Amino acid sequence: MIFLGAPGAGKGTQAKVLADRRRWTHISTGDLLRSAVAEGTALGLKAKSFMERGALVPDDVMIGLIREKLPTTGEFVLDGFPRTVPQAEALERMLQDEKRPADAVINLEVEDEDVIRRLSGRRQCKNGHVFHADFFPSKKGETCDRCQEILFQRPDDRAETVRARLEVYHQQTRPLIGFYQNRNRLKNVDGRGSSEDVSRAIDSQLAGGK
Ligand code: AP5
Repeated sequence: MIFLGAPGAGKGTQAKVLADRRRWTHISTGDLLRSAVAEGTALGLKAKSFMERGALVPDDVMIGLIREKLPTTGEFVLDGFPRTVPQAEALERMLQDEKRPADAVINLEVEDEDVIRRLSGRRQCKNGHVFHADFFPSKKGETCDRCQEILFQRPDDRAETVRARLEVYHQQTRPLIGFYQNRNRLKNVDGRGSSEDVSRAIDSQLAGGK
């Protein structure tokens, strides 16, 4: 399964819920890249400057990363990949080679104003537990109520970088809506309700409802 959507649309939140409940593997390219940056690996050194300015990491790097991380068996949820038409075409070839095409592509629809509100309030800890200052505050205030680590704002969640990420989304990622619509894989989900409402809408789409 693939999650599409603007930055802050809720892809990570919903992909985690779905993967936990159904015991699927969750593959977040943003998380993989942030770990690589934190560990100072060759991938991290390549990706850092692109991420800091809200640009996309080059396609060849991302396609290589996914080729390495795709599980060979079992179901998985892709969160943050593909993000460009060349990435989608490469993924299609990889999945066709393994004779297991994507079952569904969930497109989480939110307005740009929601994105800005969600990203400006997002806080997370170094273990990847994500909160929102207003919508999902940690019970421990400035520390994570799951692992007690300090919460921080992602560097690319600052206002000027969020604007750049949104622009990149509209120019380079939105065309994937048409790409998957043409393949009858696209399921649009209104991403504006509460997290629980959105999860229910995803379940209903996956069950074949409206
Ligand atoms: P990545 O980490 O994938 O960033 P993104 O797509 O911009 O997605 P986000 O993580 O910002 O948002 P999300 O949709 O997961 O929302 P979330 O659930 O956290 O990528 C970062 C960077 O890495 C990219 O900019 C790029 O440089 C690079 N990169 C990654 N993949 C790449 C690729 N394939 N190609 C090239 N470059 C790549 O929710 C956001 C906030 O809202 C949270 O605080 C959450 O608690 C809150 N929230 C969630 N749902 C709701 C709700 N229903 N109501 C209220 N609040 C909500």
